[in-house]
Amino acid sequence: MRTIFVIGIGAGDPEHLTVQAIAALGRIDTFFVTDKGETAADLARMRRALLERYVAGRAYRIVDVPDPVRDPSIASYVERVAVWHEERARRYEAALETELGDDQCGGFLVWGDPSLYDSTLRVLEHVAARGRVAFACEVIPGISSVQALAARHHIVLNRIGAPLLLTTGRRLLEAGGVGDTDTVVLLDGAQAFAAIDPMGLDIYWGAYLGTGRELLVAGPLVEKVGEIARVRAEARARHGWILDIYLLRRSH
Ligand SMILES: C[S@@+](CC[C@H](N)C(=O)[O-])C[C@H]1O[C@@H](n2cnc3c(N)ncnc32)[C@H](O)[C@@H]1O
Repeated sequence: MRTIFVIGIGAGDPEHLTVQAIAALGRIDTFFVTDKGETAADLARMRRALLERYVAGRAYRIVDVPDPVRDPSIASYVERVAVWHEERARRYEAALETELGDDQCGGFLVWGDPSLYDSTLRVLEHVAARGRVAFACEVIPGISSVQALAARHHIVLNRIGAPLLLTTGRRLLEAGGVGDTDTVVLLDGAQAFAAIDPMGLDIYWGAYLGTGRELLVAGPLVEKVGEIARVRAEARARHGWILDIYLLRRSH
């Protein structure tokens, strides 16, 4: 039976790869690449560099699986994403059928950790449910951007015995800001941190974590919001894309 490895590759630093991930890379016959959007070219380059560094003496193939476009005519976000996932499942299914022999191993290299704001596992679940291609699945955890952020700022994400919320920029805006729960925000293209009430909040912000372009800013949000917006805009203009993440918490 085919085996699919879903491998967390860390958030940007090639040395984030775990020993388990490196061992898994060495078993893959075909890597499936599904990058999209403005980050695609750079992320594809970083993935290739990882393979050159960690896979020695074994032939492998890299197959691009083009991503479908989300249908803007579907008003509901959840429905729009569901339709998009279904189309992705069809494309993954076709790729697994045509590009992988019955007893071969396929690999999906997932940025950060596969359990966090990544659709690879959900899409593979759809593929399995469709029942046309049988495969076993192995998931290798990776260092997520959340862990990379905490490590670079030398912080513990939760207060003692307290909960932690992981959310997106869009949901932060919908919620109208942060309550008493410490909150890590990913996927914030809209810069929600600049639109909420900054009073009494500290921010720990990081961009391009683990890469040579890394940027870090921390302090009271009311003092740092302008600096982060400026640094972020400059970096985005320079590189053409940005990945950033931050923790917001009530000041002591
Ligand atoms: C689609 S999510 C994927 C998260 C990923 N699975 C993880 O475990 O980190 C992409 C978001 O992760 C965050 N992110 C990923 N890598 C990052 C990095 N190197 N530096 C800063 N933020 C990063 C950003 O918030 C970005 O918008």
